[in-house]
Amino acid sequence: MNILAIETSCDETAASVVKINPKTWQMKELSSIVSSQIDIHQKYGGVVPEIAAREHVLQILPVINEAISQAKIKPKQINYLAVTQGPGLITSLITGLETGRTLAFAWQKPIVAVNHIAGHLYANFLNTNQKIKFPAIILTVSGGHTNLVLMKKPNNIKIVGETLDDAAGEAYDKAAKMMGLGYPGGPIISQQAKAYLQTKNQASNLIFPRPLLKHNNLNFSFSGLKTALLYQLKKDKNWKKRLPEYCFAYQEAIIEVLIYKTLQAATKYKVKTIMLSGGVSANDELRQRLLEVVNNKLPQVKCLIPEKKYTTDNAAMIAAAGFFAIENNLKKKKTMTYNKLKVDPSWNL
Ligand code: KG4
Ligand code: ZN
Repeated sequence: MNILAIETSCDETAASVVKINPKTWQMKELSSIVSSQIDIHQKYGGVVPEIAAREHVLQILPVINEAISQAKIKPKQINYLAVTQGPGLITSLITGLETGRTLAFAWQKPIVAVNHIAGHLYANFLNTNQKIKFPAIILTVSGGHTNLVLMKKPNNIKIVGETLDDAAGEAYDKAAKMMGLGYPGGPIISQQAKAYLQTKNQASNLIFPRPLLKHNNLNFSFSGLKTALLYQLKKDKNWKKRLPEYCFAYQEAIIEVLIYKTLQAATKYKVKTIMLSGGVSANDELRQRLLEVVNNKLPQVKCLIPEKKYTTDNAAMIAAAGFFAIENNLKKKKTMTYNKLKVDPSWNL
């Protein structure tokens, strides 16, 4: 089965063709094109919705054309379309969804709506040769969401923990803005933290709070951490000279909480697999530490981490999630037509 997927929920215009074996769930990316607008939004310190929307309109058709051409297939070889319906910026979502609907109409193909966060979760199924064992717990850490999802089976998911305020990516982005480091904050802060470790190779005595760490639930809270950083910066006149150390200490607080809660969830639900997803999972320190900790503390549990290109927004992950939505619709004999689809900017998982 070939799925053409489209993703335009925020500031990336993306299209991808993924070939899926419905029996084995083996998913092979035939193409994955991502046109990022980061350079355009960088000077504003964050995504400007109107600019993002206009850029999607310019990029969407060239990106889809490129995805089809790189996949070396003809439109008639596409079996299904999958498109992000939400959550995200309404004006960004509309371009991708309406383009998907138009193609579904023109080509007379079935189309499914995909939840963006589900896309991040199912990124773990792409290009992997391993058979995923269930139940699984998935830590999703992106710019807008931070949650722990229990996946009993691919079509049976439940949020068991989530952030009560800021998302982990937001914590990175806001801290970077506070320290005048630019957007997006995650890659910049993690690079500074890496530089600190390389030069110092020892732990910092600058310690930020670990929000909700000892609370007996699986929720997160990152807004207090950002405030703690603000007060510390006000107190320390020399903070600019200690920038890498600040980034290191701030990142440590985020990573420690993320890993601790993930292990807590894995133990509570006796999972066989732990997976990671979302933009923040591009972070090398988080990837490496999660693997190490799972290996040491829960050696019987398999830890899966998606390829870096599938961590930040892309359309291959929308095809992966689309596949399970298609299977579900086929089972329930639901039609998958273009005329029912409408964007849903606040669609909950
Ligand atoms: O999943 P994503 O591409 O978009 C959303 O759905 O939000 O995630 C974007 C977020 C941003 O907050 C960005 O700062 C963060 O992912 N991010 C990182 C890294 N790369 C991107 N955070 C930490 N370390 C990174 N290397
Ligand atoms: Zn995302």
